[in-house]
Amino acid sequence: MKQKIIILDFGSQTTQLIGRRVRELDTFCEILPYNKFPAEDENIIGVILSGSPLSVYDKDSFHINMDELLGRYPVLGICYGAQLIAYHGGGNVQPTATREYGRANLCSIDENDPLFKGISVGSQVWMSHGDTITSIPKDYVISASTEKVEYAAFRNEKKRVWGVQFHPEVYHTQDGLKLLRNFVVDICGSKQDWSPASFVETTINELKNTLGNDKVVLGLSGGVDSSVAAVLLHRAIGERLTCIFVDHGMLRKNEFNEVMSAYHDLGLNVVGVDASKKFFAELAGVTGPERKRKIIGKGFIDVFEAEARKLQGVKWLAQGTIYPDRIESLNITGRTIKSHHNVGGLPEKMNLKLCEPLKWLFKDEVRRVGRQLGMPKNLVERHPFPGPGLAVRILGDITPEKVRILQDADAIFINNLHSYKVKNVQGEETELYNEVWQAGTILLPVRSVGVMGDERTYERAVALRAVTSTDAMTADWARLPYDFLAKVSNDIIRNVRGVNRVCYDISSKPPSTIEWE
Ligand code: XMP
Repeated sequence: MKQKIIILDFGSQTTQLIGRRVRELDTFCEILPYNKFPAEDENIIGVILSGSPLSVYDKDSFHINMDELLGRYPVLGICYGAQLIAYHGGGNVQPTATREYGRANLCSIDENDPLFKGISVGSQVWMSHGDTITSIPKDYVISASTEKVEYAAFRNEKKRVWGVQFHPEVYHTQDGLKLLRNFVVDICGSKQDWSPASFVETTINELKNTLGNDKVVLGLSGGVDSSVAAVLLHRAIGERLTCIFVDHGMLRKNEFNEVMSAYHDLGLNVVGVDASKKFFAELAGVTGPERKRKIIGKGFIDVFEAEARKLQGVKWLAQGTIYPDRIESLNITGRTIKSHHNVGGLPEKMNLKLCEPLKWLFKDEVRRVGRQLGMPKNLVERHPFPGPGLAVRILGDITPEKVRILQDADAIFINNLHSYKVKNVQGEETELYNEVWQAGTILLPVRSVGVMGDERTYERAVALRAVTSTDAMTADWARLPYDFLAKVSNDIIRNVRGVNRVCYDISSKPPSTIEWE
């Protein structure tokens, strides 16, 4: 039996984070829209109800049939989830005059409550709610309070139902992971057997069973997800996997050759296709970001399809799709705002079945699986990189000369991120590169005046972009050290012909995005 926790999503921004925390507890979980609770699934060991931007008494708010859950499974309601439990049981939820947002401390805790085992009075929690529970249902008792919030946590232990007004999943809740552990492990009885090692073993067996003697083709991008998917498949079916790596000419400096040789070292059967001429020709004079994306997307599929058709008897197309690509996140109207598409409808067109071995993993888990598989650091720890590559980092039209300038400037930035050492949160020495979610350089469509030696220059400007993030949905600009930025700027202006100015992008997402186009 594969134990799982179900997380019902009521539209909170932190729902995915709840999922990641549960996985950190080596427990499998699935995030589902609030109204899609599976009718029959004997593997479910507990349910978590997420937060929501809505109020339980709003006309359009999301409600569920609590009787399906309460008493049947252990249930933990978080924020809106807790309010829903209170509301449905006959308690009261009311709007507060001011939205309570930020840090608070638990000033009393019922020490008999198994949910708070090992958590002491004073522990910091993170609040983010506009409504307050003013009374709890008759058969519930208070588990914890803060100065301002009497019903910070409450429970009906007989029914195995808990509600917490604060957010245990966020970093600022000091004992949040401990609380989730108490729920997932002690209350729900997780065996904590979801680990990279067990994932690798079961997935390889499943792939062997599903694929049998079939041949599989996979598109490699040089990124973590497709590379890990390829290695897993290779372990399962060996030479029956063929990988295709298309160079559209807009990769980072030397990336095609470096990544090809890493793939060969891993024993993968890879066809490398240099299609850069085709892409440069099709992109000539094109300035619109979406148009560039369309041209590259279509060109990629054409090249991939032509190569794949050369292979005989292929039945499957494999992809490095990961879980966040597929989670149907809800917006406030209850509509799903994300749906996953296969690459350009290729599977249907080529009559191929789809194989997505990483479809249940979060990004950090993909990296853990990659390490478990013994993959080299430079593949596993690589920053995400957009499919259209440097094409969306060259603002305006693209020429081979601009790509060369950007590749050179970017290589200096990235190499410096590797060589600059810092301490991570555990106090260990690490590369600055590893402390950043994603970094890259952007070639701006402006020229500015400079002076070099006795000469006046009139050359290009580049912007450096480095962000911290957990999932690329939101991101903050990385506070890179001044001496580091000074060195990168100096190295670029001295060494990259055609650039005389370097800027640092200090915008967060939202409202900006990570890429400039
Ligand atoms: P934005 O710029 O939307 O990017 O904040 C979020 C993440 O997605 C990557 N990205 C892309 N990846 N094709 C891709 O495969 C694209 O067209 C594309 N645009 C952005 C971006 O690098 C970041 O990791």
